[in-house]
Formats: sequence, structure tokens, C-alpha cells
Amino acid sequence: MDRLAGKIALVTGAASGIGLACAAAMARQGARVFLADIDDAAGAAAADAIAGASYLSIDVRDEGAWQHAVSAVRDDAGRLDILVNNAGIGIGGPIEALTLDDWRRQQAVNLDGAFLGIKHALPLIRAGGGGSIVNIASVTGIRGSGTFVSYAASKGGLIALSRAVALQCARARDRVRVNCVAPGIIDTPIFARLEGVSGSAADAAASAERLVPLGHAGTPDDIAQAVVYLASEEARYVTGTELVVDGGLLIG
Ligand SMILES: NC(=O)c1ccc[n+]([C@@H]2O[C@H](COP(=O)([O-])OP(=O)(O)OC[C@H]3O[C@@H](n4cnc5c(N)ncnc54)[C@H](O)[C@@H]3O)[C@@H](O)[C@H]2O)c1
Repeated sequence: MDRLAGKIALVTGAASGIGLACAAAMARQGARVFLADIDDAAGAAAADAIAGASYLSIDVRDEGAWQHAVSAVRDDAGRLDILVNNAGIGIGGPIEALTLDDWRRQQAVNLDGAFLGIKHALPLIRAGGGGSIVNIASVTGIRGSGTFVSYAASKGGLIALSRAVALQCARARDRVRVNCVAPGIIDTPIFARLEGVSGSAADAAASAERLVPLGHAGTPDDIAQAVVYLASEEARYVTGTELVVDGGLLIG
């Protein structure tokens, strides 16, 4: 229960689903966690329920909000060891149906948000002697998706960004590792929030039954366990990779 003892962590999109499970799992392993989200009511309630946790209001698309949040962590905790870029939205539909606004909204949250988070948190992580950045990508960023075209592009970009920053940090001997977790179909509230899709594509259990070799959707905690591993010293020689947690979806 002490794999992250003494560590300071910031998780975006932590009011719900995978981010909430990551925050809770890291706190159980001894980390002090800052939960960040755009949904202030749910985020503050989630932080209240996790021992030692705090809530920060961040729209990950907003550079000023990131600067403010990183300053708040520096002032409060003095350091940052773990950043989990998890906030995300899903806009489906074939490419001809997507507007340029849809495309930009998709990239803004899933890719710009992680770019800004890494850019502004990295100096604080580096100043504390290093740490771990974990980005929540998706198997769609590896294999593509005919249903979630712009979403898959955002996650493919996130994987490439992660590898690039992993190399930058490794070559600079920053002691900062950067990795992705690539989930498959995980039963979270995102399915009720998806835009541009209906029917089984908007239903985790139905999609998983149709597509996943293990026959069912994953849970948020299945992803949180992978994040805890990548955040911990157990993964000290792991950087620039994707940990796929998908019930066999990628190979099925
Ligand atoms: N659920 C899945 O099947 C699945 C599969 C692969 C990848 N993912 C990825 O996992 C991550 C978490 O997804 P989830 O399923 O837990 O979804 P979710 O909808 O339950 O949670 C997403 C959270 O992100 C927050 N958020 C959205 N826009 C934001 C913004 N601009 N700034 C700050 N916070 C914002 C939401 O308020 C919410 O709390 C996402 O990046 C998603 O793409 C999910």
C-alpha cells in the first residue's frame, strides 16, 4: 500500500471514470493527489472523498489555467512527481460528417490539453529530481477507428507526443519518464457523453460484447492499476511506451 508513498500527483479529468479511479488508486498507494477537472461540483466532491486530496479547477485547453494550477501545486506541496493527462472527450462519426469545429474541439481537449499540461508541469517535475508522466491514450490511437475518426487522430497524436517528450527527457537525463496507457472499452460515463454516435457504439457493454476477445468491458480500476505501475519506481526503466489494457481488442 505504499508504492507511491510521499509522491505528489496531479490527475486531469479526475471527477469521473478513469481519472477518478486513478486518483483513488494513487492515494491508496500513499500519494497526495490533486484532482483537476472542468466539472467543479463533481471534482470537489471526489477530492473530499479521497484522503489527503485537493481539487483544482482546470479547463485543460486553457494555458492560463495550467499555469495557475502548477503554481498552486508548487505553493502547496513544493513539488510534483506524477502527472496523469487523462481528461478527454469523444466525438464520433465518419469524416464527412465532422465539422472543422468538431475536429478542433476534439484535438483541443485530448491533445492540446496534454501538450499544455506537460509543457507547464515538466519544469516542476524536473526541479524535484524527476518523476513520471502518464498520458491516457486509447487503442484507437494505435489501430485507428472507423467510428471515431477524429478521436483516433487525437490519441495517435498523444502517443507520438508522449514518445517525443520521453526521448527529450531521457536524452537530457531529466529522470522524467513519459508513457501512455492505451485502454480499450472501459465502462465509464464517457459513453453517455459521446457525440456523433448512437446504438451499440454508445454502449460500453454492447460494444465490448461485440468486439472484445475477453467478452466484456474493462473497469476504471483496470486502467488505474496500469497507471499506478507506470507512476511507481517499479517502472523505473520504462519510458516512451504504450501499456495496452484492452481485453485483447487490439489483437482480436
Ligand atoms: N472509457 C473508455 O472506453 C476509454 C477508452 C479509451 C480511452 N479513454 C480515455 O480515458 C480518458 C478518461 O475517459 P473516461 O472514460 O473516464 O471519461 P469520463 O467522461 O468519465 O471522464 C472524463 C473527465 O474529463 C473531464 N473533462 C472533459 N473535458 C475537460 C476539460 N476541457 N478540462 C478538464 N477536464 C475535462 C470531464 O469533466 C470528466 O470528468 C479520456 O481521455 C478517454 O479518451 C477512455
